[in-house]
Amino acid sequence: MLHRPRRNRKSAVIRDMVQETHLSPSNLIFPLFIIEGQNQKTEISSMPGIYRYSIDNLLREVESCLKLGLKSFDLFPAVEESLKDKYATESYREGTLYLRAIEAVKKNFPEACVVTDVAMDPYSSDGHDGIVENGEILNDETLEILGKMALAHAQSGADIIAPSDMMDGRIGYIRRLLDDNGFTNVSLMSYTAKYASAFYGPFRDALGSAPKKGDKKTYQMNPANIREALIEAQLDAEEGADFLMVKPGLPYLDVVKLLHDNFDLPIAVYNVSGEYAMLKAAIANGWLGEQTIMETLMGFRRAGATAILTYHAKEVLEKGWLK
Ligand code: PBG
Repeated sequence: MLHRPRRNRKSAVIRDMVQETHLSPSNLIFPLFIIEGQNQKTEISSMPGIYRYSIDNLLREVESCLKLGLKSFDLFPAVEESLKDKYATESYREGTLYLRAIEAVKKNFPEACVVTDVAMDPYSSDGHDGIVENGEILNDETLEILGKMALAHAQSGADIIAPSDMMDGRIGYIRRLLDDNGFTNVSLMSYTAKYASAFYGPFRDALGSAPKKGDKKTYQMNPANIREALIEAQLDAEEGADFLMVKPGLPYLDVVKLLHDNFDLPIAVYNVSGEYAMLKAAIANGWLGEQTIMETLMGFRRAGATAILTYHAKEVLEKGWLK
């Protein structure tokens, strides 16, 4: 035999030498949930190890992540039901929980990168990402609200704004608005190919943000489609996105690879709540080993993602797996 591929696997040193893909803390973005109050830390039952933090505890959590070398955070607010309305006005109200959280993190830790989520659902009494009128999700009217939200995030210090709503034209609309208001340096990470997925279940538990009626199929993509992701990516690139995101992650690695191979923008992937819950449940039951976590994250890197939003971000650093 002239070819014995096993020679390159014979020792740890050689295996490391020929390793093609690497994962570093700089690839990771840690999603964090926020609640009102003081000294609050409540676990999300379907996401063991993941909590909702009041702002004081959020700052402690961010500090401990920074010490581990984890520097990017994506914030999500759990909004009291009584504050929700049809037009998600709480999302841009001065002094609202979310804006205070962004300000507090940036004030205390200017070196941290804060990613903010733009979409109506956590603040909408309908639980949808857009305005609901006679059962229909309005597109262009929703853009105005998304714009107000994005502007408020930028004013509060957001480094990267991530619109997760899937309305048409929102990247261009928000980019123009930010630029007109002097925020030319605030980045846009577009949820480019966001699928109508059942893997968001635990996240909706965490925020109490599930749709009150219907589903999200008229704006989020059909899980059966891949070519359609190219249309979305083309539009986002033209409209000024700085990152293209695919979401969920594991069942959509082909989409990550497709966008990576066709666009020069950095690719992000969201390893969503249901994917986290799945591994955690199997590990807790002894059905899978913990190595499945790094194997999963490496799969995203191999497929071409450079930014990985994952609830595993802190634990892989705490456990020293990123050496
Ligand atoms: C809402 C939003 C969702 C997630 C991020 N932003 C849920 C949804 O679209 O219903 C899901 C994240 C996760 O499941 O971890 N715009």
